Amino acid sequence: MISPADLSQSEYFVPYPHQYHFILDEPNRCQQESPFLVLMIPVAPHNREARDIIRSTWGKEIRVLGQVISHYFLLGLSKEEHEKKPLEEEILKESQRHHDILQSDFLDSYRNLTIKTMVMFEWLSSHCPNTSYAMKVDSDMFLNIHNLVNMLLKAPRHLYMTGQVLRGVYVLRDSTSKWFLPVSAFPESTYPSYALGMGYVFSLDLPKKIVEASAHVKAVYIEDVYVGLCMRHLGLSLTDPPHGLFIATIPFFRGSCYWTSVITTLLENSNQLANVWITYQTQTQSGC
Ligand SMILES: *[C@@H]1O[C@H](CO)[C@@H](O)[C@H](O)[C@H]1NC(C)=O
Ligand SMILES: *[C@@H]1O[C@H](CO)[C@@H](O)[C@H](O)[C@H]1NC(C)=O
Repeated sequence: MISPADLSQSEYFVPYPHQYHFILDEPNRCQQESPFLVLMIPVAPHNREARDIIRSTWGKEIRVLGQVISHYFLLGLSKEEHEKKPLEEEILKESQRHHDILQSDFLDSYRNLTIKTMVMFEWLSSHCPNTSYAMKVDSDMFLNIHNLVNMLLKAPRHLYMTGQVLRGVYVLRDSTSKWFLPVSAFPESTYPSYALGMGYVFSLDLPKKIVEASAHVKAVYIEDVYVGLCMRHLGLSLTDPPHGLFIATIPFFRGSCYWTSVITTLLENSNQLANVWITYQTQTQSGC
């Protein structure tokens, strides 16, 4: 029998705050381009395919409704020791070609996603002085930039975060769950409100505040919950988006204008995005 006290608490927390360093960076691009909106996409180092699909779909929408949009991919270090050298060279070439890769020197793993998110907030707070909004968006998402920008043009400019906001979610105490947290690591029975990690949007005054809050909030490995904990520490609430814009699963029955009516939808995988994008463009052209 393993009692909860025997479980090492540290496995539910990540080493953050900590001085991580960017080994691939775009130090001046965001300031020079001054985009209205920056899309930040966490992706595993080896997942070139997902990056290329995004570059040829929603990642290529760089001017929408008169606003400049740019995207960056967030990588850590590859954990596959044997494939390290060739992969590093490939990623360097990819970075020189596309100028959209930010790679930091922590180990890229599912359990380290909180570090990736916090490194993202650090980067945004110091590199994008003339940007209004950023979105953290997963690589297996459909994203309708037109509807997103349209929503943001009417949104608050300060202390604003939106997405699919969850409230009063119970902490999973079943040790086989992917998102298990024992009482010893997190005694409260529910989480504070948080926006689902697959896609949340925020005003650019928040990154600095969230980084500051992180010095006072122990970093749990569940990244979206951790952002929610930092928001609570700051005394800030989240905003619900207009109804029906952030969709967590593809509806089985979809109207003929589905893709032109939403902002995000979680897909089954990033390969599906290529096909969905064609449908989306067809719907746009057909007057949806
Ligand atoms: C998380 O990253 C840190 C820093 O690189 C590393 O020491 C640690 O082993 C990583 N943890 C996991 C679970 O990958
Ligand atoms: C900020 O960006 C806007 C366009 O989005 C531009 O008109 C303005 O000159 C920029 N300001 C600075 C300080 O770069």
